[in-house]
Amino acid sequence: MSFANQILPLLKANCVSCHGPSQQNAGVRLDSYNVVKTNLTAATNAIANGIMPPTGGLSTAQRQLFQNWVNQGALNN
Ligand code: HEC
Repeated sequence: MSFANQILPLLKANCVSCHGPSQQNAGVRLDSYNVVKTNLTAATNAIANGIMPPTGGLSTAQRQLFQNWVNQGALNN
């Protein structure tokens, strides 16, 4: 699991429009490793529970990808 090659692209495609430079809904940014680490618990729960993104959540495969990265220590790799 790679943050740079898999997780950041997933977040950019599905989260950063509302949690990035132009909008920070709930004060949350998800556009770099450090801010993702800061919001890791909330982001993990929001993804696992299908709450975010608000339009239907991620696919099962995408949720699994994120969860695997978290389970492997949420490394900056
Ligand atoms: C279309 C806009 C939009 C997108 C896309 C989006 N969010 Fe959000 N997000 C919001 C809004 C609005 C809130 C604040 C209201 C709420 O909590 O429902 C929020 C709140 C949050 C919170 C804070 C919840 C809490 O418990 O404090 C987290 C974490 C979060 N989003 C993560 C994500 C993640 C991860 C993604 C991508 C998988 C994502 N969001 C995609 C709009 C969005």
